[in-house]
Amino acid sequence: MTEVGAPREERIRRALTHLRNDTTDEFGDITWFAPREFTDPAVAQQERDLIFGRVPSIVAHGSEIPRAGDFFTLQLPRNTVIVVRQRDGGVKTFVNLCRHRGALLEKEERGRCRLFSCPYHRWSYDIDGELRTITRDNTFGEPDRSMLGLIELPTEVRHGFVWVVDDAAAEIDVAAWLGPEMDAILASYDLGPKVCVQSEGFDEPVNWKIMQDAFLDGYHIQYAHPNTAAKHIHTNVMAFDDFGRHCRFIAPRKSIDRWIEEDPGEHSLAGDVTETHFLLPNSTLLRQPDHFQLLTFRPHPTDPQRSRMEMRLIVPPVEQTGLTEEKWNRLWAKNWQILLDVLHAEDFPLLRDSQRGMVSASAGRMVLGRNEVANQVFRRETQKLLAHHRGHPGTTVPDQEGIQ
Ligand code: FES
Ligand SMILES: [Fe+2]
Repeated sequence: MTEVGAPREERIRRALTHLRNDTTDEFGDITWFAPREFTDPAVAQQERDLIFGRVPSIVAHGSEIPRAGDFFTLQLPRNTVIVVRQRDGGVKTFVNLCRHRGALLEKEERGRCRLFSCPYHRWSYDIDGELRTITRDNTFGEPDRSMLGLIELPTEVRHGFVWVVDDAAAEIDVAAWLGPEMDAILASYDLGPKVCVQSEGFDEPVNWKIMQDAFLDGYHIQYAHPNTAAKHIHTNVMAFDDFGRHCRFIAPRKSIDRWIEEDPGEHSLAGDVTETHFLLPNSTLLRQPDHFQLLTFRPHPTDPQRSRMEMRLIVPPVEQTGLTEEKWNRLWAKNWQILLDVLHAEDFPLLRDSQRGMVSASAGRMVLGRNEVANQVFRRETQKLLAHHRGHPGTTVPDQEGIQ
């Protein structure tokens, strides 16, 4: 496996040293921020347009729509869309709106079809977006059909994921967006042939950044999850790499504790850590010893105080594990239930209350610590996207300089 930066075992040993010394990787400074970043409709509008309307974010793993005609519908921050597998194996994303009078074209959350057929006057569209039928066309008139195909959003499949920019006029280049380091890291994981075995979305009355922040946070574990996650993972210990736009950090699991006193020598410690990757703008990819978890956080299309979190479990296909299908299913179902329990019982209530607090008129400013490295990257980079594009009013296509 090609290594990016220091070899993984070396980075794990750095985390082990931090654990021994009660230290962690840190930034040089604390960062201040304002509660209105999570409540102000004007800020939310800028984020939708200048972040989600410009840069790629993940909407699914390819294994969720394996066959031609497999589709799902989704509310993005700026468009309600259909994502559909094409006959040539590619994936396209369309605005989910009939070009006749604007009926919602597809109501199902997911399914498989040969064409999309509008419930209002039964116009139909091919899965590649082309308008196929105008009903009673002898009386309708003769609009140029090539002008009435479904509106397409830039979409790319890379590293097994489906990425979309939420603006029809934008361009997409996922490799350029990821940059050489994160692109190589994701390539080394070979996520394409893996399987999304569980996935679920949660609509929460919480700003998307509050949600995203909680899943880049290694500082809260012992305090918010004392009887669950904290039993397995250490708090506030990170070996961190900043790649500018994206970042990653290794956090030791409790199973590493036998090596606190003893020198592990050449012994691999890969099974004793969780590695977290932050993919700007809105995803956390967790590499566990035997599987991956993907968490994505999407702003609500109008309300700054709402968002949708999606969680996916991405695992090796059953053939590669030596498990029977039943055991394989049981293993991931159990894993999934543990994650759901922690989310629903511990993270979500805390984050909902945080959002309620943020609307306080006299909230005062707040602060990120030097130790909150990934949160600092998330804030620094989202601020950069907002500032950079604010300097270029009226542009609808991202300039390459802005996304390199
Ligand atoms: S709105 Fe779709 S066919 Fe009329
Ligand atoms: Fe948490």
